[in-house]
Amino acid sequence: MKPTALITGASGGIGYELSLLFSKAGYDLIVVARSEDKLLELKNELNGHPVTIIPQDLSEPGAAQVVFDKVKELGLTITVLVNNAGFGLNGSFEELPLLDQQKMLQVNVNALTELTHLFLPEIKAARFRSIPKGVLNVASTAAFLPGPKMAVYYASKAYVLSFSEALVEELKETSVTISTLCPGATDTNFFKAAQAENTKLVKQTMSPESVAKSGFLGFVKGKRVVVPGAMNQGMAYASKLLPRSLAAKAAHYVDS
Ligand SMILES: NC(=O)c1ccc[n+]([C@@H]2O[C@H](COP(=O)([O-])OP(=O)(O)OC[C@H]3O[C@@H](n4cnc5c(N)ncnc54)[C@H](OP(=O)(O)O)[C@@H]3O)[C@@H](O)[C@H]2O)c1
Repeated sequence: MKPTALITGASGGIGYELSLLFSKAGYDLIVVARSEDKLLELKNELNGHPVTIIPQDLSEPGAAQVVFDKVKELGLTITVLVNNAGFGLNGSFEELPLLDQQKMLQVNVNALTELTHLFLPEIKAARFRSIPKGVLNVASTAAFLPGPKMAVYYASKAYVLSFSEALVEELKETSVTISTLCPGATDTNFFKAAQAENTKLVKQTMSPESVAKSGFLGFVKGKRVVVPGAMNQGMAYASKLLPRSLAAKAAHYVDS
């Protein structure tokens, strides 16, 4: 049996790049997203590397259980879970449709939590000498501060960071790594999907390749929180010093 990484949101952006890195490191892949065609492109690019595709909309309640059941039906066991699927919505809380914001919470928070709960026992039980096992959760620098005009998105990422750091403590006596990747603005489809293409955030982005590389290396080294890029690290540090009211104003400025 080979180590296997299950990666959500592998059809594009950071998740696609993380999939390439985990495959290069010798993990078989199980990839999840809605766009089956793009997952097939990834499988083709990996040219014979074992890749199992699970097309699934994670905004549907119960989707995590569907993914888990499918993995078990196929007789597979995972070593690493990468909870990367996620999206943002740009607009005031009052004006954005509630249903869309609930779907965002379902993907960014509920699916991530449920997948972690379902797969953690087998990750804990995995026995591979010198091959890291654990969970890599993708949050954001948005996790560090309140985000007016993307209020629910920022709050969802604060949840991901808080949840993951709590698990680090709960699992400290085990060999399970829990890492949280907190990217800043990254050049992916994220801004288009969030209808945030005209915000100041898009002016200084990192490439998804370099963000994924930081996340992958951070996970392999067992780092609890990974913030890629000096500017994002500075921002994360500054957000700890600022009063929350000022941090919210700063986030409002860059997101407008
Ligand atoms: N780009 C940034 O500036 C940035 C900054 C900080 C954090 N992040 C976080 O990084 C992660 C990856 O985003 P990205 O930047 O790579 O954006 P992206 O290119 O838009 O990729 C998002 C991925 O999530 C999947 N996804 C979205 N909704 C889904 C759903 N309902 N069910 C299943 N999969 C779904 C998408 O696949 P399908 O559309 O095929 O379903 C896609 O593979 C997200 O969690 C995001 O919040 C991004």
